Amino acid sequence: MCGIVGYTGKNEALPVVTGGLFALEYRGYDSSGVAVLCGGKTEIVKKTGKLENLMAALEKAQLKGTCGIGHTRWATHGEVTETNAHPHTVGKTVLVHNGIIENYVSVGKMTNTDFKSTTDTERACALFNELYERCGDGLQTITSACREFVGSYAFLVMFKDEPDIFYAVRNGCPLVVGTADGGFAACSDVAACDFGEYYKLSDGDVAKVTKDGISFFDKDGAPISKEALTPKKSFSAPDKCGFPHYMLKEMEEIPTVLKNTLEAHIKDGLPYFEGVEDEIFKNMNRLRIVGCGTAYHAGLVCEHISRRLTGIEGDIYIASEYRYSGHKLNKDDAVIFITQSGETADTLACIRMCRAQGAYTLGVVNVPTSTAVEECDGVILTHAGSEIAVASTKAYVTQLAALYLIVLKMSLVKGTLTEDEVRGLCGELLNGVCAESRLSDTDKITINRIAEKYSECRDMFYIGRGLDSVLCSEASLKLKEISYVHSEAYPSGELKHGTISLITEGVGVFAILTDERLYLKSIGNIEEAAARGGSVIALCKEGFCKDKNYDLIPCRISNDLFAPFAVAPRFQYFAYCMTIIKNLDPDKPRNLAKSVTVE
Ligand code: AGP
Repeated sequence: MCGIVGYTGKNEALPVVTGGLFALEYRGYDSSGVAVLCGGKTEIVKKTGKLENLMAALEKAQLKGTCGIGHTRWATHGEVTETNAHPHTVGKTVLVHNGIIENYVSVGKMTNTDFKSTTDTERACALFNELYERCGDGLQTITSACREFVGSYAFLVMFKDEPDIFYAVRNGCPLVVGTADGGFAACSDVAACDFGEYYKLSDGDVAKVTKDGISFFDKDGAPISKEALTPKKSFSAPDKCGFPHYMLKEMEEIPTVLKNTLEAHIKDGLPYFEGVEDEIFKNMNRLRIVGCGTAYHAGLVCEHISRRLTGIEGDIYIASEYRYSGHKLNKDDAVIFITQSGETADTLACIRMCRAQGAYTLGVVNVPTSTAVEECDGVILTHAGSEIAVASTKAYVTQLAALYLIVLKMSLVKGTLTEDEVRGLCGELLNGVCAESRLSDTDKITINRIAEKYSECRDMFYIGRGLDSVLCSEASLKLKEISYVHSEAYPSGELKHGTISLITEGVGVFAILTDERLYLKSIGNIEEAAARGGSVIALCKEGFCKDKNYDLIPCRISNDLFAPFAVAPRFQYFAYCMTIIKNLDPDKPRNLAKSVTVE
């Protein structure tokens, strides 16, 4: 989502700021802008669309100065226009903002400003300016203004008559400051700047960043000290490595990252999670899992597997619902939070809510430097490496791997499986499943051919039973988010309770069939759809559906329990092919952001 970068030091600000914006680009944005402070004046350049548009404008504008801020905007309040893009300026104040100021209407009314944009940010900027005009002190302005804001924010603020200085302040949105490029930088993601050492701001912290150093203050303006951190170079810089798209590269990496994740959490043949006591799993009498989008779908798979192996049922929650659900927890409860980025606003809010009630919070997280890793009581890292494409592929599969191991751990400590059984299943995961997740050239040719055939299809219904029905939710999300084909996921048996009225000639029916026990029931439901004109694709276990007139995507599945690892890469590749055939960009689908940092 929105990204912010700032720099002050002995070098030109613009290369550092725009370099940071490019590094944040994958998160998704629809406009961008920079401001450079020089000689009591600020120059601002903003553009809608890709960063290339901003760079072209900057070439003409030739901004010079050693203190500057920049922003990539993902529109929330107000449409995508240059006027609504950041930086915003009112009087002597210039700023960039991530987050949402919820009380922006009343904030705006506290000032006497003729607003140009429809954004909450310009209202906040006006309040900063009003207070600055009164006191003439940057730090005091920041702390006073923040007392008035309701909502989430990370701000970088410059005042025109405070040369070479910017202020950084946050509440609920990530923000770091540190040494970089012969000076000092601030950024919404530590990975986007080449930091020497850096400091993580906590909610309410203010950093005053000058060309000579950084000082920290609490929300009332009293000096505080912060711990210096060294960036972990755990993630390589984004690189397509010759692939046309990140999404394709990331799907290719699935067998490797799956192995990495399993090896990291299997010790002596059994599930092992460093820093997480066995007691946590022993005490789980109910599985509680929270996440958004793909992470939520991974949770649904986990619940299914848990019911099967441990007999323990679960409640899987969408984070944006859970945070306002009024669920009561106590100190004996544990909640699992799944998040690739570790920065999803709703998921973080749920972590804080559960911690406040004394429950144990266990994060299944991919980004090791993320807020979720910092805030959860226990963390199980997925080892997918950096995932750049908006559509989650390899991260989902590694989430599944970690969740399967959690369920196996529960089975072990609760005694629903013997140690030998758990050891056997861990071995199967490591040795068989990684291979089954790999797509051969023949698989790719088959899937691409089927995608060509269905490329004009406007509606696709994903259907399955049991575990397959849970996988359908993720398969459907993948298709719609990048190819813009309308799709829905239904348990096969549920179609005839309403939705089958939508199945007519030319409607796509994408069936997932991996469960021997439910095979005949599933076929019955597929036939009902086919009889009404639905064109059927069957992603199924090798040997299934051979006598049927379906478009088949067969896959080798040695154990039904582990079917998701063979099925997911195939439905992901299908969505990718549909997108490429339509000449769309799978890495940056419209309206979407990689990391959803607003609620
Ligand atoms: C899936 O392809 C999406 N990009 C999205 O649903 C994503 O999984 C969701 O926003 C949660 O993100 P997180 O894992 O970083 O918390």
